[in-house]
Amino acid sequence: MSQKDNVRIAPAEGKLGLLIPGLGAVATTFIAGVEAVKRGLAAPIGSLTQLATIRLGKRTEGRSPYIRDFVPLASLNDLVFGGWDIYEDNAYQAALHAQVLERGLIDEVRAPLEAIQPMQAVFDPDYVRRINGPNVKRGRNKMDKAQQLMADIDQFRRSNGCDRLVMIWCGSTEVHHKPAAVHQNVRAFEEGLCQDDPEIAPSQMYAYAALKSGVPFANGAPNLTTDVPALLELARENQLPICGKDFKTGQTFMKTLIAPGLKSRMLGVHGWFSTNILGNRDGEVLEDPGSFKTKEETKLSVLDQILQPELYPNLYKDLYHCVRINYYPPRGDAKEGWDNIDIFGWLGYPMQIKIDFLCRDSILAAPLVLDLVLFLDLAQRAGMKGIQEWLSFYFKAPMTAAGLYPEHDIFIQLMKLKNTLRWMRGEDLITHLGLEYYD
Ligand SMILES: NC(=O)c1ccc[n+]([C@@H]2O[C@H](COP(=O)([O-])OP(=O)(O)OC[C@H]3O[C@@H](n4cnc5c(N)ncnc54)[C@H](O)[C@@H]3O)[C@@H](O)[C@H]2O)c1
Repeated sequence: MSQKDNVRIAPAEGKLGLLIPGLGAVATTFIAGVEAVKRGLAAPIGSLTQLATIRLGKRTEGRSPYIRDFVPLASLNDLVFGGWDIYEDNAYQAALHAQVLERGLIDEVRAPLEAIQPMQAVFDPDYVRRINGPNVKRGRNKMDKAQQLMADIDQFRRSNGCDRLVMIWCGSTEVHHKPAAVHQNVRAFEEGLCQDDPEIAPSQMYAYAALKSGVPFANGAPNLTTDVPALLELARENQLPICGKDFKTGQTFMKTLIAPGLKSRMLGVHGWFSTNILGNRDGEVLEDPGSFKTKEETKLSVLDQILQPELYPNLYKDLYHCVRINYYPPRGDAKEGWDNIDIFGWLGYPMQIKIDFLCRDSILAAPLVLDLVLFLDLAQRAGMKGIQEWLSFYFKAPMTAAGLYPEHDIFIQLMKLKNTLRWMRGEDLITHLGLEYYD
């Protein structure tokens, strides 16, 4: 600990195990990518922890270290991967199935991928409807299955000699559910597990198992998961950091870049129509109306918060916002997202913006997974517990303390992330005031 540090940060020594429910396109693109980067075969583009710098002190000081040199992060060489899936494919087979990366690159990292055999999943077809697989646990009730997950975690930790673990949900999007009575506190939740309460989703059983086992948890999908009082209480009780929900990648990433810009110039928006076609397994699951509803909620929420129609009714009160996702198999993971934005300017004159983002979902998501696991592990070593709002930067629907609205503006989110790192190390927070340069 340096004298300036505001928090004591334990060193990132030993192995960090990453446990991933859902070894699909995102997870395998992430794992294969880390293995490729370790071997010098490719660069970790898109990752702040690997590439970004952080300015310290005044603009005249010229101090801009890499984030990875400024705070102690686990090294890529110390990462160990494991996970669960309803399919029996190992990570090599799953990466081939996902068809995100070229076969040549996947073959270069075949050995470490083949070594990752998914553990049996906790699965409930009422929560994910379009797919089904054989690699699932059986048990007396949900508590029994959660305990089997805890045994998996323990076994993984021991057999890989891990010093620390982080769990990140990369499983399919579960159908939309609201918090129920069973989610109100840990006692009710545990009773619900024993009584097989239908309101407890598989993702919540993984999160429960992680938090009971002392493992920080991140949620890459829009499912409710840890966004309920019982699991928030458990995270705080066990001094564990958590974050979510729903990786902010393609269209919503674009939205949170553009909407703050329009608002900053006080330009009005009449309507924002967003539509997507994608043909991967994620797209197939999202064809189900229940899963789509979960996704739609997180996708729709961002504009309202950024544009603040309650403060600017003349500009945004009547905004018509619509989001569509269509499963279109020929595109695979190479999705296309269109946005038509009807805006208006000086004296109300209308204009239009069209965006056609030919993106690759998992290529955009993989570096987010890497940053999230490294930052959650940092938070854990720094003794930070509960919701990590400074990681909102990575999410479409950031978790926040009760009563707070989430911050969606990506530039504010980035400032918050970097200021949190500065705060950890006792550096001045950057406010961009800068009057002193003109004294
Ligand atoms: N790729 C992106 O840009 C992006 C952005 C935001 C959110 N997401 C979310 O990330 C998640 C993963 O996306 P993907 O493209 O890898 O999807 P995918 O369908 O390729 O992978 C999901 C995997 O989860 C498995 N699974 C489902 N339920 C499970 C359970 N209960 N336990 C263990 N495994 C389970 C499935 O069998 C599948 O292999 C999805 O929920 C998606 O909505 C992705």
